[in-house]
Amino acid sequence: MKKHRRSLVDVLDGEVLSPPPIWLMRQAGRYLPEYRQTRAQAGSFLDLCYTPELATEVTLQPIRRFGFDAAILFSDILVIPDALKRNVRFTEGHGPQMDPISVDDIARLEAAYSSDKLSAVMETVRSLRSALPDETTLLGFCGAPWTVATYMIAGHGTPDQAPARLFAYQNPLEFARLLDVLAEISAGYLIDQLDAGADAVQIFDSWAGVLGEVEFEKFCARPVARMIEMVRAVRPGAKVIAFAKGAGVQLRDYRRITKADAIGLDWTVPLSFAKELQSEGAVQGNLDPLRVVAGGTTLDEGVDRILEALGGGPFIFNLGHGITPQADPENVDRLVKRIRNRL
Ligand code: CP3
Repeated sequence: MKKHRRSLVDVLDGEVLSPPPIWLMRQAGRYLPEYRQTRAQAGSFLDLCYTPELATEVTLQPIRRFGFDAAILFSDILVIPDALKRNVRFTEGHGPQMDPISVDDIARLEAAYSSDKLSAVMETVRSLRSALPDETTLLGFCGAPWTVATYMIAGHGTPDQAPARLFAYQNPLEFARLLDVLAEISAGYLIDQLDAGADAVQIFDSWAGVLGEVEFEKFCARPVARMIEMVRAVRPGAKVIAFAKGAGVQLRDYRRITKADAIGLDWTVPLSFAKELQSEGAVQGNLDPLRVVAGGTTLDEGVDRILEALGGGPFIFNLGHGITPQADPENVDRLVKRIRNRL
C-alpha cells in the first residue's frame, strides 16, 4: 500500500485510495472518557470551544486513540449565532438555547457581529496544525445558513424545524436576509480557518431533510453555493465537503449547484444512488451511527457493504451522522481495523 500524504485531500482531488481515508463526524465527544474528563475541566461547553489548549486537546484525543486520517476542529456550528450576540448557551440536559430572533432583529443582525471570540477558534486551528501528525488532514467547519437559522428562529433545537419553515413562508424577505448574513459571515469564518491551517472545510446542513423541492434549492443549495463561491473567490481551489442530511434524491442537484468537492451522505442514501453520485465526484459516508453502538457483525456487515459499493471510486469513509454518546470506543477500534485490514 502506498503511503499517501494527507490522503483525504487527495480524495477531494478525485483520487481513489484503498483503503479509503476515514474520520467520523463528532469523533471528539462524550463516547470518549478522556473527552468527558476535559469537558468537566472546562466548565461550560462554550468555554471548551473558546479555550484553545482544551479545544486542541479534545480534537487530538480521537486521533491518538484511533489514528483517524482527519482531525476535525473542535468547536460548534452555534459559535456563529454567539458571535452575532444571540445569547447562546448550552445547559446540561437541554441542548443549545439562544434568544429567538424576531423580524426586527434581522435588520440589526449584521451590526451586532463581532469576531472577537472566534479568534480563539483560529488559535485552536493554528495549534492543531502544529500538533497533528503531518499526514493527518485538518478539517475546519461551520453550519450551513439554513441549519443555523433553524436554531436562531426557534431559540433551540426542534424536531421538524417547523418554526423556521413557517417563519420563512411568512417573512420571505427577512428570512432571505438572514440566510445572506449567515452565508457571508460563515464564508469569512471558513476563509479564516483555511488561512490558520485547515486543509479543507465541511459545511453541515444537518436539517436539510425537512424542506420541499423549491425551499431546498432556495434555503440549502443556493446559500451553500454562494458560500463556496465566496471562499473560492479569495482562496482559489479551496476544498469543501458539503453535508446535506436527509436531502435524498436532491443530492444530485446539490452537487451540481454547490460545486462542493465531496458530498456527505447520511445512512438513508441507497448505495446504488451513492454510486451514481460518486460518478460525478467524491462522496463521504454513510454508516448508520447506531451500527457502531450495536457492534459485532452488525457493524462489520454495514462497513463491508459500503466498502464494496463505494471503495472503487473517490471515497471518504464516515458515519451518516455524528457518533452517539452510547457508542463503545472498542467498536470504533473494530471499525477502523475492519476498513484498514480488509484490503
Ligand atoms: O468532533 C467533531 O465532530 C467536532 C465538533 C463538533 C461539535 N458539534 C461538538 C459538540 C461539530 C462538528 C459539531 C457540529 C454541530 N453542532 C452540528 C452539525 C452536525 C450534526 O451533528 O448535525 C449541530 C446541529 C450542532 C448543534 C449542537 N451542538 C447540538 C444540537 C448540541 C447538543 C446535542 C447533544 O448531543 O447534546 C451540541 C453540543 C455539542 N457539540 C456536543 C459536542 C461534542 C455535546 C455537548 C457536550 O459535550 O456537553
